Amino acid sequence: MAHTNRQWILASRPKGLITPEVLQLRETAVPALEEGQALVRVKFLSIDPTMRVWMADRPQYMPPVQIGEVMRAFGVAEVLESRHPEFNRGDKIAGLTGLQEFALLTTKDLGAFHKIPSIPFLSDSHFLGTLGHNGFTAYFGLLEVGKPQSGETLVVSAAAGATGSIVGQLGKIHGCRVVGIAGTDEKCKWIRDELGFDAAINYKHADWKEQLAAATPKGVDIDFENVGGEIMQTVLDRMNLHGRVVLCGLISGYTKEDPAMASFGQVLIKRLRVEGFIILDYASKFMDAAKQLGMWKMTGKIKDKQTIVKGFEKAPEAINMLFNGTNIGKLLVEV
Ligand SMILES: NC(=O)c1ccc[n+]([C@@H]2O[C@H](COP(=O)([O-])OP(=O)(O)OC[C@H]3O[C@@H](n4cnc5c(N)ncnc54)[C@H](OP(=O)(O)O)[C@@H]3O)[C@@H](O)[C@H]2O)c1
Repeated sequence: MAHTNRQWILASRPKGLITPEVLQLRETAVPALEEGQALVRVKFLSIDPTMRVWMADRPQYMPPVQIGEVMRAFGVAEVLESRHPEFNRGDKIAGLTGLQEFALLTTKDLGAFHKIPSIPFLSDSHFLGTLGHNGFTAYFGLLEVGKPQSGETLVVSAAAGATGSIVGQLGKIHGCRVVGIAGTDEKCKWIRDELGFDAAINYKHADWKEQLAAATPKGVDIDFENVGGEIMQTVLDRMNLHGRVVLCGLISGYTKEDPAMASFGQVLIKRLRVEGFIILDYASKFMDAAKQLGMWKMTGKIKDKQTIVKGFEKAPEAINMLFNGTNIGKLLVEV
């Protein structure tokens, strides 16, 4: 059966937030399947801060998306037809589907997509968040880079987001005092009252730096850094000797030409270990993390929230939600 595919194409490089010239909607016919291909229908698209990085023409951990290409995005999808040796009709998969309604998987993409199981009471969309790259980022970033010890103080920024909310809960499981920094009182209430963070600080309150000092009376041993700029500098100023900084993301700078940077002064004086980290380096161990995170999720040791934007056509505005903080937990587009 012939399908019309709608795709968001990168039409120009953004300056700041995503404006109508940046992503253009294209309609195209889905070609007939060739040997070695499978056709999937995308159900959920993951909306990630790194999409804004992929749109920029600067050195990064994957090639930037080129003008005229389908915008890169993670998605979960269902196989409609298959002439592919690995996938059968009805299989559900997760991977880099692109910002489109249908995708063709080829044998060249092996490794870029994996099958996902059907688990009662769990939406497929969880394989894009807690049981997908955000959960894995929290898991490996905190456990393998941050190496938390019981009794230590962990501070996490963008703490009510997809990654930060899991980081804080993993910190509690490992016996840390956990302090989250987030941008609304509602987010702070959620991470403190429902997720069990010891303290939550709204960085939009004038006295937030004093609140952070009060919430970290023994200083900070681990900074799980998602934001950068002034927030990172303020946390670095509270770090203890030989503390660890998990440099996971710098979202405050992604839409800026000249982002504010934290200075290296405290890194030197406090002999901090700052480690940049990209989740792709841990791909061979994703299944170990998925099992452990799945167990914690099923037993209620970790909780999550999703902000679901309904409608494929809303994807560009959904990307902007990450930068104005209107998502809580994992941000997704339901196609
Ligand atoms: N290294 C890796 O492999 C890897 C993998 C995944 C994600 N990441 C990084 O992890 C971070 C979080 O990603 P996510 O997918 O979990 O997104 P998310 O936290 O669910 O959403 C982004 C959040 O960042 C906060 N934010 C945006 N601009 C900000 C600013 N100028 N100052 C302070 N906070 C700001 C907003 O919350 P507020 O309301 O709190 O401002 C927003 O909700 C990002 O930096 C991302 O690049 C890294």
